[in-house]
Amino acid sequence: MRFSVGSKALSTENKGVVAVALYAGDNGKAPKLTGDAKAADVAGDGAVKAAFADRFFSGAKGEVHVTKGWANVRLMLVGLGDKDKADLDTFRLAGASAIKKADALRADRLVCALQDAAPGKHATVQTCAEALVTGMLLGRYKFDRHRETPKDQKAPTVKDVRFMSHESTETRSVKAAVERGEAIAQGQIIARDLANSPGNVATPDWMAKQAQKVGKDHGVKVTVMGMPEIKKHKMGGLLGVNQGSELPPRMVIMEHTPRASRGKPYKTVVLVGKGITFDSGGISIKPGAGMELMKYDKCGACAVIGTMASVAKLNLPVRVIGITAFTENLPSGSAYKPGDILTMASGKTVEVLNTDAEGRLILGDALWYAHKFKPDAIIDLATLTGAVEVALGKHYTGVMGSDDKLIERLIKAGQTSGERMWQLPLGDEYQEMIKGSHADLNNIGGRGAGSCTAGQFLRNFIEEDKVAWAHLDIAATAWVDGDAPLTPKGCTGVGVRSMTAFLRELTEP
Ligand code: BES
Ligand code: MN
Ligand code: ZN
Repeated sequence: MRFSVGSKALSTENKGVVAVALYAGDNGKAPKLTGDAKAADVAGDGAVKAAFADRFFSGAKGEVHVTKGWANVRLMLVGLGDKDKADLDTFRLAGASAIKKADALRADRLVCALQDAAPGKHATVQTCAEALVTGMLLGRYKFDRHRETPKDQKAPTVKDVRFMSHESTETRSVKAAVERGEAIAQGQIIARDLANSPGNVATPDWMAKQAQKVGKDHGVKVTVMGMPEIKKHKMGGLLGVNQGSELPPRMVIMEHTPRASRGKPYKTVVLVGKGITFDSGGISIKPGAGMELMKYDKCGACAVIGTMASVAKLNLPVRVIGITAFTENLPSGSAYKPGDILTMASGKTVEVLNTDAEGRLILGDALWYAHKFKPDAIIDLATLTGAVEVALGKHYTGVMGSDDKLIERLIKAGQTSGERMWQLPLGDEYQEMIKGSHADLNNIGGRGAGSCTAGQFLRNFIEEDKVAWAHLDIAATAWVDGDAPLTPKGCTGVGVRSMTAFLRELTEP
């Protein structure tokens, strides 16, 4: 799909689909038409007013109505809902609704009026354009590569999307915003494609090769550690979990160094991702029902790889290192067992009370390794605990960490990017729960607070006096069980938008 930006009047269009975004009126009444909505109404001989009057359209969020426009133009009205409640997510949703409808109409070109997506409390024309583009690309996403025939027999038709901004002076800045929207969505699509790939395809080695491919395509340096290097670093957590698998583990390091920072010093942030390519639970095996979902246990790593692509595309003036650790967690005669004591790369020892609490073991080694880059911040993303869904449902990612300022920034980035986060506590109480009897730590914490004890476990591999650290538990937000407006059933690619937003905001004063 190609995007372009122009500034011609809507009435000069004479065919195809023209979309106009509208807020709902107050108290169910039709809103006063201004700008492009008014222009479309005039050109369409009262078509917009009629849609409200006939109650075909109310401007509700997510609502789409197609009516006759002018010449051979079909006019699409896209609802934005209550103006006071609108945020950038409203525009992501509007973008997704509009493109899906245009595809359903078999249109090859969609013209979008931006004026009524105009500067509100939360947005500018530029940020709205970025959100619309992101929403279009994500809303249209499909994971079809393993089908003989695509599920949706009708291939999408829209090839050109043209945004009309009403000021010719802003076309340049809107164009740049459109490109940012594409860069972010493309990173998230990389994350989705990787995460949706099944365990028999997406093995640790395959994941490492995909990371190398992303690196090559985006100018990101990639280093892959295999068994010999992982052994050399004495990564006992990753090696322990890997024992039950026939396939060797991988640790992948991706590195984005800003091309030019105009002499200014830049910050270093390490993103760490959990990459269990399949989590059976190991000897502490999971129940059969729903176990297929555990191919999604690599979503943290996939989000890190996708973010690296977006960050490089945007050429953000931050040094960003992505560290992802990959292995399967399977039972076998050689698998690690409950009661085993592992020595982690940091030297700390862990008694394994449950082989299904494996994520924290591979992350402990990856987090420890992250310090080598002397970062200002380390952020890890992991489908770590089922407990986070009990706590927050599927609406918020759980965020924990050692640095409240960092967490505050992450929560803010979550709001602007539409990947909301909610803080959960860490502290001595939880440390007490994972204190080891025969080793330094146990890998589980007993009853209650499963997400907090898991987060606290990770904290033991952070040198808090040297670096700010936060942990995102994405176990509930990483996939959806049914089709959602921005995501078809499957992986969401959560983390890419919020990490990119965080890294962008880090570079702003
Ligand atoms: N990968 C799972 C967490 C998970 C569960 C993600 C459900 C998504 C949906 C993780 O490795 C795990 O098994 N955690 C255990 C921890 C327990 C053994 C302390 C869990 O959540 O049950
Ligand atoms: Mn597990
Ligand atoms: Zn797991």
